[in-house]
Amino acid sequence: MQGKQDTLEVYTPEFFLNPETLYVQLRASRPVCRVRLLNGTEGWWITHYEDVKAALKDSRLTKNPHSVLPASELEGIDADVRHLYSLITSHMLFSDPPNHTRLRSLVSKAFTPALIEQWHDRIQSITDALLDAVQPRGTMEVIHDFAFPLPITVISEMLGVVQEDREQFKAWSQVLVGNTSTLHALLPVISEAKAFLNYLFALIEQKRESPADDLISRLVQAEEAGDQLSADELVSMIFLLIIAGHETTTNFIGNAVLALLQHPDQMRALQEDPTLLQGAIEELLRYDTPVFSTTNRWAREDLEIGGQQIRRGELVLLQLASTNHDEQIFQDADTLDLRRQANQHLSFGKGIHYCLGAPLARLEGQIAISTLLRRMPNLRLAVDPHTLTRRPAILIHALEKLPVAF
Ligand code: HEM
Repeated sequence: MQGKQDTLEVYTPEFFLNPETLYVQLRASRPVCRVRLLNGTEGWWITHYEDVKAALKDSRLTKNPHSVLPASELEGIDADVRHLYSLITSHMLFSDPPNHTRLRSLVSKAFTPALIEQWHDRIQSITDALLDAVQPRGTMEVIHDFAFPLPITVISEMLGVVQEDREQFKAWSQVLVGNTSTLHALLPVISEAKAFLNYLFALIEQKRESPADDLISRLVQAEEAGDQLSADELVSMIFLLIIAGHETTTNFIGNAVLALLQHPDQMRALQEDPTLLQGAIEELLRYDTPVFSTTNRWAREDLEIGGQQIRRGELVLLQLASTNHDEQIFQDADTLDLRRQANQHLSFGKGIHYCLGAPLARLEGQIAISTLLRRMPNLRLAVDPHTLTRRPAILIHALEKLPVAF
């Protein structure tokens, strides 16, 4: 078993631009690697498919930050900041069973493939309206004009949030995504977190007074029923659904469009044969997954992953994007092949935290990509690909902008 390792500085501008260059080196030489995080603390990156798959199902790794928070981290922290932290970390993605099981079961019914399919026509009409708006121009910026408004509109309608607030949501969630699972990471974004939570409190009160046929109203009723959902958990759940429900899919659509534009033969194949669509979405999810790393997990006890000892309390980040290019699992892993068979990518995770929104993300992806290719058959990049930039985010592989012409 290996003991101590040097710490690697991984979050560099080159990494954000092209993570695979580093992943390929790490899979070959240090598949379990000690890394420095953006806030200066340290953790472990896991890059091999089989190690990550096993870790996703390993109950010795906890998702609950409160169970590992060292007492020293709370020293000097104001009580209202501690309460804020507790509020935004009381959701299913930061919980272990039995709390996780209870929280997930309260919303899981709304996200089954059958119920999500009922949103098909609505998603199609939102997609068409977005493309109607840009069609006469002959150009668009895919992220701003299409990939962002589509999923935020859908999740807002499911939850019962008014449309006018969505640009504000974007600003809040871009700052907060990936910055809330440790108290340390939250401190620089306290004012955004407070503003977002105040907005959610007001929204919950409004749904309490005039309930409607939406998810927030149903969750408010569950909270009022008493023993299923506390007031803090209610806010936290809505916070999670809003952030997870759009940031991820926006970047999936952006990355997928770019991958197709860079592989014109594959794009043409999909335009000519729409029956490829389902498999194509899985391959695009594998090829440039929007959530390149899982959220935090911590070792509950000393354990070993891939021959490396990990100490109790240490942070573990599973590099999903790396697993999707692991040559031991995927033949010609760096090739985009929309006809790929047996595509067991890990882009939605695995185990009990497997993405709740996967059926919704898949449906949005299918409608977005197929409609775009059908209505804009001559789609092409409007800038030199070398000028495209990525956001320096630690979980999300996100294009800043994607200008296209058609
Ligand atoms: C292509 C788009 C998406 C991708 C790639 C994605 C990816 C993921 C991943 C990897 C996880 C597990 C994280 C971990 O284990 O640390 C996750 C969890 C989750 N996702 Fe998604 N997601 C997407 C879209 C959505 C959408 C549209 C929703 C809608 C509500 C959503 C809601 C959630 C929730 C609630 C969880 C937590 C599940 C749990 O803890 O049991 N996701 N997602």
